[in-house]
Amino acid sequence: MATIILITGTPGIGKTTLAKNLSQRSGYKIVEPNRLVRKERLYTRFDKARKSYVVDEGKLRRRLEALSRSSERIVLPTHLVGRFLPKASVKTALVLRLDPVVLYKRLRARRWTKRKAWENTEAEILDVCLQESRLLLGSRKVYEIDTTRKSALAVYREALRVLSRGRTGRSGIVNWLARYDPLELERTL
Ligand SMILES: Nc1ncnc2c1ncn2[C@@H]1O[C@H](COP(=O)(O)OP(=O)(O)OP(=O)(O)O)[C@@H](O)[C@H]1O
Ligand SMILES: [Mg+2]
Repeated sequence: MATIILITGTPGIGKTTLAKNLSQRSGYKIVEPNRLVRKERLYTRFDKARKSYVVDEGKLRRRLEALSRSSERIVLPTHLVGRFLPKASVKTALVLRLDPVVLYKRLRARRWTKRKAWENTEAEILDVCLQESRLLLGSRKVYEIDTTRKSALAVYREALRVLSRGRTGRSGIVNWLARYDPLELERTL
């Protein structure tokens, strides 16, 4: 059975960057669900308003299940955490976190609208990816990494330490709500 490492977190947080480092430096194979969906047409339709494909979760699940029967070491970067994931094969979920103000600026630098950048910043403040990962996989498999003020290389090294030691979960390391009042932050950003 494959070893799948889920790399999750709010859009723009650094999932692909970490996955590339784990691939280039440690030999993991990258499977990006978004790409798979586009390349293999695992969608039901194109949502014009959202400018994105609507994932056919059944098809995606079957595709990922097939992958999980291989004997590869796979990193799966995605901000979507859902039942399409082959739960049993997911050994660890690394949930990347980032100070919401830094994240907002990064998303705006991508030329995202204020609204879209804020929606995602709010999801980071409210721990959405962390909670979804814990719900789906159980807290023992979920390991949170705060990337704030850390280089991509430092994040990679931390991730590698977690994976090579087969550490059990760790969550609750950041508390953005204690630092920021979302209503006030939305006004000042
Ligand atoms: N540790 C880091 N420090 C500073 N910048 C970073 C770090 N990690 C990633 N970045 C930068 O942040 C941006 C977003 O990174 P990346 O594409 O890896 O995020 P992502 O989580 O995969 O985003 P998406 O959900 O949209 O796919 C990139 O410009 C990347 O170079
Ligand atoms: Mg990405």
